[in-house]
Amino acid sequence: MSCTWRTRTVTRYLLAGLGAMLILAPPLGCGDKKEQPTEDSREPAPEDSREPAPEDSHEPVPEDSHEPVPDDSREPETEDAQAPEFADCPEPTAEEPLAVMATWRKDPTTTVIIDWHVGPDDDALRSFCYKEVGAEGWQHSAQAEQHASPHSERSIHRVSLDGLRPGTEYRFRMGEFERRYKFTTMPGDIDDEPLVFAAGGDTMHWAVFLETMNKAVMEYNPDFVIWAGDLAMDDGEPERAHLWDYWFETNRNTLINEDGRVVPILVAIGNHEVLDGYYANHDDAAQTDDWRESVAPYFYALFAFPGQPGYNVLDFGDYMTLIALDTEHTNPVEGAQTEWLAGVLEERADAGVPHVFPFYHVPAYPSYRNKSGRVSTLVRENWAPLFEEHGVKYAFEGHDHTYKRTHPILAGEVHPEGVVYVGDGAWGVWTRTADPERWYIARAEDSLHGVIVSLHGSERHFRVVSNLGEVLDEW
Ligand SMILES: [Fe+2]
Repeated sequence: MSCTWRTRTVTRYLLAGLGAMLILAPPLGCGDKKEQPTEDSREPAPEDSREPAPEDSHEPVPEDSHEPVPDDSREPETEDAQAPEFADCPEPTAEEPLAVMATWRKDPTTTVIIDWHVGPDDDALRSFCYKEVGAEGWQHSAQAEQHASPHSERSIHRVSLDGLRPGTEYRFRMGEFERRYKFTTMPGDIDDEPLVFAAGGDTMHWAVFLETMNKAVMEYNPDFVIWAGDLAMDDGEPERAHLWDYWFETNRNTLINEDGRVVPILVAIGNHEVLDGYYANHDDAAQTDDWRESVAPYFYALFAFPGQPGYNVLDFGDYMTLIALDTEHTNPVEGAQTEWLAGVLEERADAGVPHVFPFYHVPAYPSYRNKSGRVSTLVRENWAPLFEEHGVKYAFEGHDHTYKRTHPILAGEVHPEGVVYVGDGAWGVWTRTADPERWYIARAEDSLHGVIVSLHGSERHFRVVSNLGEVLDEW
């Protein structure tokens, strides 16, 4: 890591008013600039940087930012008193759950999945009540499934809602908790209003990094966020369960907007979600649900998407498809996954879906590590030709802890009809120094960043913002 950059990072955080965090930050150790680890090295971050952030650095953001959100002006303050209550929408006895997350496994224009986490001191009621914003009283209710949270006393409550109206705001509350939230179904089309999402990866060496980056992208009011792996850095190890507590607490405090809308999260798997990082590091590796859960217990329990088998596709109406892939962590690239990907891409190309974005952890065209690394090579040999054949224009990557945008690449060369690879995963981690001299790199920066993607009809716009809100790249 570059000492020069670290000096700049210090300046960034001082500017951000986070001096207290820096005092507690690990020693900078500026001797590793020329380090070029191979793909398959487990890529552990330095031990000290993976440690949980010290107490004050993962403190909740200031009091008022997670206070119960008042109902918006379109609704009467006394709506609950006026309206009949469902018997299963009990009187609240607590303020808010330990975690709340929205995601999807089916079409986001008409469905949603809401998770909330409860601790051993909560009542753990499983009721969920919701309604369209503006309607009187709770219109609908559901009962959450309850799942164990790995290596934790928490449990996960999960409801899956179907048959919702596209482009509609819903208000909800859950269990015994008083705070009300919103979710918004995605629009049925994007011809009139743009859809905006934020993309990145490698989210948390320190909770305060995650927090500041979340706040920077929330300035763009994204409809959702996608993260291409290396999330809480649990490494599949039981003693790291608490990292997820910080991760969910930080996201609860920063990915809910001012009027209570929970910004959904979609994730792909990275090496730091997996014991020993990679499929090939296990003699007993097997393509079964049980084996994958045994090496990535948190990932499969905590996230409904992608779920088993670790890769999945999500169609937003007929205008966008997101594809989460597994770069050799709990599934090999070659074989079943690549065959599945070929079918998915062919179907979307035949259907004329205008926006198709794969996202995955290990980059095809890395900006820091060696391009000849085993997994990068597998991605270039197996997936890049499919992307090119089926008209994919952008792929989101992570893992190298830099910002990079490649030139469009076709058949291993720069070509205007090729695929642009955007990465390399520096949402909330110590960054590394990208190599801007590589033939495929169009733009590189050593900075925390999120990519704000705006889709309007068939048009795409990209803006890359730093944790301080600086625009690093735009096209
Ligand atoms: Fe990684």
